[in-house]
This record gives sequence, structure tokens and C-alpha cells, in this order.
Amino acid sequence: MTLRFPGLIDVHCHLREPGATHKEDFITGTKAALKGGFTFVIDMPNNPEPTLSMEALNKKISLAKEKAFCDVGFHYGTNGLNTSTFEQAFSNPNVFGLKVYLNHTTGSLLIENQVLLEDVFKSWQSQKPILVHAEGEEKLAMAISLAKKHGHRLHLCHIARKEEVAQVQKAKAEGQKITAGVCPHHLFMTKEDAKKMKGFALMKPELGTLEDQQALWKGLRGGVIDLVETDHAPHTKKEKQNPPAGGPAPFGVPGLETTLPLLLTAVSENRLTIDDVIRLCHTGPAQCFHVSIHHNTNVEVDLDAKYEIKNENLHTKCKWSPFDGWKVKGKVLRVFLRGEK
Ligand code: DOR
Ligand code: ZN
Repeated sequence: MTLRFPGLIDVHCHLREPGATHKEDFITGTKAALKGGFTFVIDMPNNPEPTLSMEALNKKISLAKEKAFCDVGFHYGTNGLNTSTFEQAFSNPNVFGLKVYLNHTTGSLLIENQVLLEDVFKSWQSQKPILVHAEGEEKLAMAISLAKKHGHRLHLCHIARKEEVAQVQKAKAEGQKITAGVCPHHLFMTKEDAKKMKGFALMKPELGTLEDQQALWKGLRGGVIDLVETDHAPHTKKEKQNPPAGGPAPFGVPGLETTLPLLLTAVSENRLTIDDVIRLCHTGPAQCFHVSIHHNTNVEVDLDAKYEIKNENLHTKCKWSPFDGWKVKGKVLRVFLRGEK
């Protein structure tokens, strides 16, 4: 059966341009997005030169305008010292949120100082959400209470642990304006898979236990989780295989081309419904981040097509996937952007 979805939205990806175009760029990243059924993607600010100023933001916007094949938006970044630029940033229609890192990951963006954090939450005087990379109960609680104090809409990126799902559920029940996302790798893989994959399964947050995974699925179906975000984070095979002396491999896995087929496979196994997929990859992201998708922007999928995910068939520049060799059911046939194939 062929089905037409509204254009899918990925609110969390790392397209790497400028500064790390050996991993990905706006051309390859947005081609990968379209291949995966995403017509609108929001790029993260943790480039080698992070998106902390209007100069850096405008550079990204003009590069994307010139090169991108699908629609692209941006999250602004902060190191706690650029709050004077916030008003200009959130007034820009290409900006959809502010990303705050409470844990160390790829790049230099991390705020640990409480005074700076308070200033960040106080200064982002916008309806556009603050997104946090907050791993574990303590950091999540900190983000939730800061958002409450300053009356912010808060998006919790990549919820990955059972306890975190419970925490989100509780905060929502208390009436707080928070939304939460999960990543496909946490839904479809556990620590066990990581053993075989070495550096290729290294990401932040790390893969969890079977119990964590089950809690994520429960949250996904029950509505505690608002959306699926790919956290498409390409690194080259070489970087993953040969990490710098003594250090770990860089964190992150690509996901733009594999997320929808994996979710459709879950539909074919009655683990999700088609309506869930639309809610998690279109309606949820559109509502959380105030994105509107043109009615003639849509994705045609063949629900019955079976195929094997293969590294060599991917459009991402890094040319590998943690799901290489996985058999999926559900394939993107064509994508229309404002009516144009
Ligand atoms: O695994 C990850 N990779 N997690 C992040 O938070 C960042 C990302 C990246 O940019 O590589
Ligand atoms: Zn990320």
C-alpha cells in the first residue's frame, strides 16, 4: 500500500556546516533528509565555530539557502556569555529555539555555572522553546526547575532512561509546559548492541538497558513523549575507528535516512500505528517548535516494500549507519516540496 504523509520534521540534527564539512554539509545532509522523508530539519549550533553570534547564524543561513535541498531551520547556541545577542537571534524567523548543553558532548558548548545558566534562562525572552541536552535525573530536574522559574517552554532532548520518562510524566502532570523527544537509536538499540559496534555505537546519551528501552516505547505510545528526533550526528568511519590517542571515539550516529523506515517497520509489527508516526514526526514537532508545513509538501511511502539498510546506499557523507544490515519494511518513494517532486 502506498501512503502519503505530510512532510516530516526533524527538530534535532547536526549538518556540520560550516567547520566540519568532511563529516556532512548542507547538500549531503539535506539529501539524506529527503531520502528519509524529512522535508524540514532543524540544525544544531555545536559546530567547531558554534552558533553564538548573529554573524555565525547569518553565515549558516546563507550557506543553507545556497545549498540545501529541503527546508532548514536553526537552533541558536549559548555558552552563557552571548545573552546580549538573544533578542536578535529569537527575532530571526530562521531560529526555532535555543539549545543549552548541560553535559559534555561533541563541540565546546557546555554550561555548568549556575549563575550563567540563570542568566541564559532569564534572557531568552521568547515563546520559542529552550532545548536542553540534560542527561540523568539531576540535570533534568535542574532544567525543569529553571524553566518553571522563568516561565519557559522547555524541550528535553533525547530522553533515554526509564527514570527520565517518569520524571517527564510527573512534570507534565504538574502542568509544566515541557515537551520531550526520543531518538531512534535509543528506541531500537541497547547496551548489548553497543558491545559489537565499539566506537560506532558511542553517542550521547549512551545506549541504555532493555528496561530503559521498554520505558521509552511505553512513553512513546502513551503520549509522554512528544516527538522523535533523529539527533543525526555524522562522524567519518575513520574518526569512529581511530579515535585520538587515549580518547573515546567522537559521540554520535547518523539517523536521517533510517528513522522513518525503522518506525514504519514497528508499525508493520503492531508496535506503533501510522497515526503515531504522524504525531511523532510531523504534528508533534510542528506544535512544539511552531513549524508550519505547506499542504503540498508531502512524502509518499510504500508500506510493503522490504529492504536492507546498507551503508553504501546512504546519502549522508559519512556513509555508515548503526543499522547497516537491518531489514526494514516501509520505503520512501517520492517527496514533494510545495508540490514540486
Ligand atoms: O551523540 C551525540 N552527538 N550527542 C550530542 O549531543 C552531539 C552529537 C554530535 O554533534 O556529534
Ligand atoms: Zn544532538
